[in-house]
Amino acid sequence: MKPLSEKISSIPPSATIEITDRARRMKAEGTDVISLSIGEPDFDTPRHITDACIDALNEGKTHYEASQGIPELREAISEKLKTDNEVDIGASGIVVACGAKNNIYEAMEACLNPCEEVVIIDPSWVSYEPAVRIAGGVPVHHSLNEKGFQLDDSLLEKITAKTKMVILNTPSNPTGSVLSKDSLNLVADICRDNDIIALSDEIYEKLIYEKDHLSIGSFDGMDDRTITINGFSKAYAMTGWRIGYAAAPQDMAKAMTKVQQHTISHPATFAMWGAVAALKGDQSCVADMRAEFDSRRKYVCGELKSMGFTVAPAEGAFYAFVNINGDDMERGDRWLSEAHVATTPGTAFNAPGWIRISYAAKMDTLKEAMRRIREFEDRRD
Ligand SMILES: Cc1ncc(COP(=O)(O)O)c(C=O)c1O
Repeated sequence: MKPLSEKISSIPPSATIEITDRARRMKAEGTDVISLSIGEPDFDTPRHITDACIDALNEGKTHYEASQGIPELREAISEKLKTDNEVDIGASGIVVACGAKNNIYEAMEACLNPCEEVVIIDPSWVSYEPAVRIAGGVPVHHSLNEKGFQLDDSLLEKITAKTKMVILNTPSNPTGSVLSKDSLNLVADICRDNDIIALSDEIYEKLIYEKDHLSIGSFDGMDDRTITINGFSKAYAMTGWRIGYAAAPQDMAKAMTKVQQHTISHPATFAMWGAVAALKGDQSCVADMRAEFDSRRKYVCGELKSMGFTVAPAEGAFYAFVNINGDDMERGDRWLSEAHVATTPGTAFNAPGWIRISYAAKMDTLKEAMRRIREFEDRRD
């Protein structure tokens, strides 16, 4: 048989999913593994959201819909962006897709010509580079300065005539850090001066503990060059619903919609009605989940620091990013095989020497995980 796509065979499988699968296999074989490797809230989707979806099913909202997403949801998203983010994009600039991940792929397909460059800020979420490469673009990596995990002028060195886009992610997966206004202003200046698109992944926007969330799409002169990505997975514990959205200038939204029309059509109609209820309903569920994540964050980061580790500024999301001053692949492997705690080595995020610990788990589970890691570190040779 002729060989399969070289482009796809050169792309590694998702490291986070691989590690979680390995932990699952160990569990199935009877090992008591604690899994802190996956980026998923451990809460159930709030009841008023599931009820709205069930009502939609019972009312026969089970048919094809507008490919950009149902108008009621796009209106609600447009309203939310105006109120929460000062991003003024009408419903016609909103594209609802099967999760933010899907929106990011659509944005790449819609924007990139072959060999155009996309700057990815490291440590970076595992799917950005594959999305760029699948769309035929060229990923160019740039590291946040480890002191404060912010951006500085050195970012300019990565900009060339071929740079089409810069990807931002704040709060960040994997570091949990939040980009400052200065960092975002720097990116905005670079984008305006060099005619570059900013793709701003704000999926952890609602899980922020120490700073205010800022959307680069609200900065002067950025409205016609920003694609704001967000979704329901993290804020409303709706990972399995697969609903995300992009807010973009008209021409980009149209191009993304075209990709969507020829691929997924749109997400499940009744799931979109659940998302309407999420945005329009009582937001106290979001505040409650954030408060719970916050106490876990304080506990986990406190424990790790007391073990002597340096932890990245854990200002948002639900990750503690730990500098282990050594080989992260080896340590992650030993934490799993000897301490029976699954985490994600920083190498998966282009940040060797670090390990990501997800604190999206019950407090008792986190306490046991910290006990095991401490015990392992105390006797490590
Ligand atoms: C930074 C980041 N962006 C996007 C996503 C994808 O979210 P969704 O479930 O909406 O596809 C994730 C999920 O882990 C993420 O961590």
